[in-house]
Amino acid sequence: AIAQTTVNLHTDQAETKINGEIYGHFAEHLGRCIYGGIYVGEDSDIPNIRGFREDVIYALKDMNIPLLRWPGGCFADTYHWKDGIGPKHERPSMVNVHWGNVTEDNSFGTHEFLDFCELIGAEPYININVGSGTVQEASEWVEYVTSSNISPMTDLRKKNGREEPWDVKYWGIGNENWGCGGEMTPEYYSDLYRHFASFTKGASYKIACGASDYDYNWTDVLMKNTQNKQHLIQGLSLHYYTITHNWQKKGSATGFEEDEWFLTLSKTLKMDELIRNHSTIMDKYDPEKRVGMIVDEWGTWFDVEPGTNPGFLYQQNTLRDALVAGINLNVFNNHADRVKMANIAQAINVLQSVILTKEDDIVLTPTYYVFKMYSVHQDANLIPTFLKTSRYEFDGKSVPSVNVSASEKDGVTSITFCNLNPNKTEKVEINVGGKNFADANGQIVTAKNINDYNDFGQEEKVSLKSFEVKKPKNGKLSIELPAKSVVLVQLQ
Ligand code: AHR
Repeated sequence: AIAQTTVNLHTDQAETKINGEIYGHFAEHLGRCIYGGIYVGEDSDIPNIRGFREDVIYALKDMNIPLLRWPGGCFADTYHWKDGIGPKHERPSMVNVHWGNVTEDNSFGTHEFLDFCELIGAEPYININVGSGTVQEASEWVEYVTSSNISPMTDLRKKNGREEPWDVKYWGIGNENWGCGGEMTPEYYSDLYRHFASFTKGASYKIACGASDYDYNWTDVLMKNTQNKQHLIQGLSLHYYTITHNWQKKGSATGFEEDEWFLTLSKTLKMDELIRNHSTIMDKYDPEKRVGMIVDEWGTWFDVEPGTNPGFLYQQNTLRDALVAGINLNVFNNHADRVKMANIAQAINVLQSVILTKEDDIVLTPTYYVFKMYSVHQDANLIPTFLKTSRYEFDGKSVPSVNVSASEKDGVTSITFCNLNPNKTEKVEINVGGKNFADANGQIVTAKNINDYNDFGQEEKVSLKSFEVKKPKNGKLSIELPAKSVVLVQLQ
């Protein structure tokens, strides 16, 4: 049969490392992400370790979570870290003005976050408050967490039970400061950034708030105004959410037909264009690609589930989300020279989550299984691919049927494919180069229907299954990608 898609692997050019942090996650004080999702308190009937859900710890570890961003999001620019340390009954509460105006009791703070990261084996990434915080607060937070000097902040940390500093490398300075983080202009924010960054010396990898979507001017101004201050900036963020229609009409997470499947996937493919265009601007000021692009918020954003608090952003997760995850992760891998970290929003019970919880019950979403499958790419070397593929057409419009990335680690070549077409199997021929492989195997995430999802108390409809692959012959491997699937092929 004639292949509709061919993929050439440039195994001789596998030089760029795919940072494991590209597989990062994000946990904000929003809805039931922290409270109920991660933290239930020590007195809860739900099995926990020091208040953290055991089932969630196990699932995140099993998925190989490399990194977690906290405490926001918009919440970060309202958060005063000193309210979240010390004896819990003495911690003041606050109102979470961005997310449902609920009262936040601050029982989950710096110690709890860093303790949780240690439990799940993830690097922490802390987002500092610029919008309503002070330079002194920021400076003291970094000192409290990272310093081994004798100082008022390290004394306070020790008094609160932590002798040794934590090893926190990644610090974000503000979040969406063009919007919820203070409605600033890029000129004003870049000055503020330099101010905050110069008083947070213990933060070894500082990330400036970057643009949203197509705001290329923001990237330009930030890069221009920091180009002669290289020691102050290691990363610049980018936020892009996949929204089926628009902010007013986002569509249902589960009740959709092929038109919204197509629209969602075509919107998510824009990530590639955005990374290319923002990178071109970054290249102008930073041709050596010293500043990492940090896509610290991405994923689907649908209407909340009927009957749930609109401020809690709780949505279900279907096979469509699995495709969105697979496509974006392939895109990030392919841009590993510039994209150094990415964080899907958000880990649990908020937007495109890998885990949903209800009381003591837990659901692993289709997105979870894609992250688990793709974890083989973490810290592997990117194999550049040349892809020729057919078009998936719908209603007079079309997108590429297949999306791919490949990597090599410890003698294993891993190739991940997404077949966006929900109606057609795609024949793929892979030219694997001169190598001889003795063994081939595969895994797949797919389902009967485009909107299948996993739900509480029901058998899983979407999970990770094994996928049969024949060994390559004469440097060529043929596979058939089932319609609407995410597939991993491994050769060794
Ligand atoms: O992830 C939800 C929200 O989306 C974040 O708080 C904010 O940064 C973005 O607008």
